[in-house]
Amino acid sequence: MDKLIIEGGFPLHGEVAISGAKNAALPILCASLLAETPLVLTSVAALKDIDTTLKLLDLMGVKVERDGDQVTLDASEVASFEATYEMVKTMRASILVLGPLLARFGSARVSLPGGCAIGSRPVDLHIKGLQAMGAAIHIAHGYIQASTLHLPNRRLQGARYYMDIVTVTGTENLMMAAALADGTTILENAAKEPEVVDLADCLNKMGANISGAGSDVIIIQGVEKLNGAQHNIVCDRIEAGTYMVAAAMTGGEIKLTNVQAHLLDAVIEKLREAGAQVSVDGESMTVKSNGKLTAVNIRTAPHPAFPTDMQAQFMAMNAMAIGVSKVTETIFENRFMHVQELQRLGADISIDGNTALVQGVDHLDGATVMATDLRASASLVLAGLVARGETVIERIYHLDRGYELLEDKLTALGAKVKRAS
Ligand code: UD1
Repeated sequence: MDKLIIEGGFPLHGEVAISGAKNAALPILCASLLAETPLVLTSVAALKDIDTTLKLLDLMGVKVERDGDQVTLDASEVASFEATYEMVKTMRASILVLGPLLARFGSARVSLPGGCAIGSRPVDLHIKGLQAMGAAIHIAHGYIQASTLHLPNRRLQGARYYMDIVTVTGTENLMMAAALADGTTILENAAKEPEVVDLADCLNKMGANISGAGSDVIIIQGVEKLNGAQHNIVCDRIEAGTYMVAAAMTGGEIKLTNVQAHLLDAVIEKLREAGAQVSVDGESMTVKSNGKLTAVNIRTAPHPAFPTDMQAQFMAMNAMAIGVSKVTETIFENRFMHVQELQRLGADISIDGNTALVQGVDHLDGATVMATDLRASASLVLAGLVARGETVIERIYHLDRGYELLEDKLTALGAKVKRAS
C-alpha cells in the first residue's frame, strides 16, 4: 500500500490549476444513464472515485471513452440495472445510479451502502423521495429493489417532497429521477451546493426542465426523454480550499487558476479572519500569508455555510495557529477521525461531543500517521507540510479518491513530497 512521505518546513509558492470537482462529476457521470445519445464531459479529473463510477457504468452497458480529461458516455444500450455491494462498498456515491436507472428503465437494484468511516450515513431520504414519486421499493438481502412497473406508462410520477435533512446526493438522485418523471416534482429543503447546480445545468443541457437549483426549492418539470450534451464540470472548491489552506499554513503565496471564488465565500472569509490575504481576479485567486495565523472558530453546515469537507483542513490550520478555537461538526456524527492522528504530530485538541477544542501549539513534529478518510487525509498532508522533520502518511488511497495529481501539484509548488510503496 502506498504512503506519502513529506518533509515539512517549505513555504509553498507558485501556481496550481484546480481540477474539475469530484462531487459534481460523480452525479453527472451517473446522469449519462438518463440520455439516449452520448454525453460528452470535460474537466473530469483523474481520480479513483471517477474510475470506480466509470467501471460501474461500464458494467451496466454504458460505452465509456476517455481521452485525457474528456469522457464520452453512451447509454443507448444499457443491459444491467444493478449496482452490486462490491461496487457500492468501494464508493457510497454509487447510490447515484438509483434515480436515473429507475426513471429511464423502470427498474433498479442497488446495494445499501452500509456504514462508513465518518458516520452511519443512511439513504432513507433517497428512498422516501422515490416512493413519493410512486416507486415500489423493497429492501431485502442488503439491496434496494426499486420498480415503476405498476405505474402508468411505467413512469415515475411528479410529486412534492420535503427532505427533512439537507442531503446533497439525495437531492441529486431525486432531481435526476424527476427529470424523466410524468409531471412536476418540487423538492423542498433541497441542497444548495454548487455541485447540485452543476448537475442541474448539465441536465438542462440534456433537455431537462429544472429551475431553482442553488435555492432550497427545486422545481423539475418531467420530460419525455433526455439526450446527450456537452458539459464542462465545475471547479473543485474543496481541492481549491485545501491548496488555499496550504498556502496560509506554510507562509507562502499560491495562485490558483480555474477557480470560482464565489463558491468559496465561507472558506475565504475564515482564511482572512485567520490573517491570510486572499485576492480574487476573475477565475484565479491568490492566497498569501506570513505563516502566523490566528485560530478561527468553525461550524460546518450545508452550503453556503462552511463546508464539512473543509473541516479537517481547518483543524490542521488551527492546530498551529495562535490561540484557541472551537471546531463544530454538524453534518456528520463521526468526522473527527483526524484528531487522533493530528495529536500524534503534537497537536493539542480535545473533543466534546461534536465540538473539538483546539489549542494552537508552537510547532508540530513529523511522525507516522494513518489516513482514515479523504478529507482527514488532506488535513494530515497539510500538517505534514509544516511539521518539523518527516511525516509519513499511510493508507493514502483515500487521497487518490479525491485529489488529482496531489504530489505533482505540491511538488511544483515547492513542497518536499514523495510517494513510496
Ligand atoms: C455529499 C458529498 C460529501 C459531503 C457531503 C456533505 C458527494 C459525492 N459527497 O455526501 O463529500 O461531505 O455531501 O456536504 O457529493 N442523510 C440522511 N438520510 C439520507 C441522506 C443523508 O440522514 O437519506 C444525512 C447524512 O447521514 C448526513 C447528512 O444527511 O448526516 C448530510 O449528508 P449528505 O448531504 O447526504 O451527504 P452525501 O450526499 O452522502
